[in-house]
Amino acid sequence: MLIFLGVLAAGAALVFGVPAYTISSYFKHRPLPPDWSIEKIQRSLGRWTLGLTLLAVTMLIPLVLLLFRANVFGWRWPFSFLNILAFHYFLALLSILAIAKVRQRIRVLGQLSPSASSSPSPAVIVAAVSTVLAWALGIGTVAFGGFFTAMAGMGWGRPLRINGKTVRPKLKRGDDWAQGERANAASLDADTKKALEALWLHDAKKEHASVPAFSRLGWQLAGIGAPPELLRDVHLAAIQEITHARKCFAMAASFGEAALSPEPIPEVFDDRCGYKDRPVIGIAVDSLIDGCLLEGFNADTAAESALPCKDRASLRLIKQIASEESSHAELAWRIVAFCLTQEPRPAAEALSKAASGIDALDRPTAASSQVRPLVAKADAQALRDFGRLPDEEFDALWRRRVDATQRRLVDLLKPLPSTRTTPALLSR
Ligand SMILES: [Fe+2]
Ligand SMILES: [Fe+2]
Repeated sequence: MLIFLGVLAAGAALVFGVPAYTISSYFKHRPLPPDWSIEKIQRSLGRWTLGLTLLAVTMLIPLVLLLFRANVFGWRWPFSFLNILAFHYFLALLSILAIAKVRQRIRVLGQLSPSASSSPSPAVIVAAVSTVLAWALGIGTVAFGGFFTAMAGMGWGRPLRINGKTVRPKLKRGDDWAQGERANAASLDADTKKALEALWLHDAKKEHASVPAFSRLGWQLAGIGAPPELLRDVHLAAIQEITHARKCFAMAASFGEAALSPEPIPEVFDDRCGYKDRPVIGIAVDSLIDGCLLEGFNADTAAESALPCKDRASLRLIKQIASEESSHAELAWRIVAFCLTQEPRPAAEALSKAASGIDALDRPTAASSQVRPLVAKADAQALRDFGRLPDEEFDALWRRRVDATQRRLVDLLKPLPSTRTTPALLSR
């Protein structure tokens, strides 16, 4: 994170510091042209400030794109909201300092009359506007990122990340995947049925995407010489995800007018595996986040959702998912442990750093942004009876899972040589 902030600070210093220094040096070493009036200097400063503001805005475009990638495509860190917001404040501060420096230089040279210095000059006004703009863009960027994060939804499976992007299949009409028990939806109103169909379809897509996610993990584990038990259990998990996906599609069909099934996922052909350098480290960190944390959280939410569930078919499926997702999380811990035997110190440092960053991750939500309006119209008690909890009940589960993941990692790392980042994790 420090390196990331350092790079951003260097970029900002170049944008604001160099022009400020150049203007300052210009006035220091050369007398002002005789035809330059205070008004002309102020106009000139205004143009400089406008230029600086435009540069700042231009710099924000790649930042917004980075944030978009961070939330939609799964770049987890160091591109957290807080970093981005902090950087915008930093930009705003530098813009003020740059203008203040120029004004100070002019005042020292005795070119600014007392009456002009007592009232805000256009340059200061533009600096203030640029500051507000930078803050507004910062807050807007966070809201923008939050919107896409909210689209993430819950889902019960290991995320499929292809070249840093989280991928899920689109849907088409078809009942080839809808195989499993159906819920008894006879008593439900139309709005509640729509919400339940959308919620189960969202889960079905994610369960389906976890199948290639585990298949690819099998390839990767073979690439780092993992033992047969891990390869076997990863393939078993892929088969369990196929069952989850089929049953989720069937459950969705209980509430909809027609069954849906997944379309092809051509993105899998773009996969570059993402672990060209240090695959052991990459697999360890991804297993910690996607397996230990996210599949562990999925198991928690499923177990909690089962408690109020009254529909028998829904309850059976949710309980099966809770149990098998929990086993997938345990499998991820075994993969992490294996990676630690392969490259103890670098893996320990990378895992420790990743675990410290978990606090900044956004919690998966109970419903995606597309599904949320449908949930709002549905009968809340009926949703609960069919094993669907409101989003606010996920908060405590998430905090508990984050805490448990970090503590378990600390325990796992204890027998290993101490790392640079573990003390920070321990001090939580
Ligand atoms: Fe899973
Ligand atoms: Fe699953």
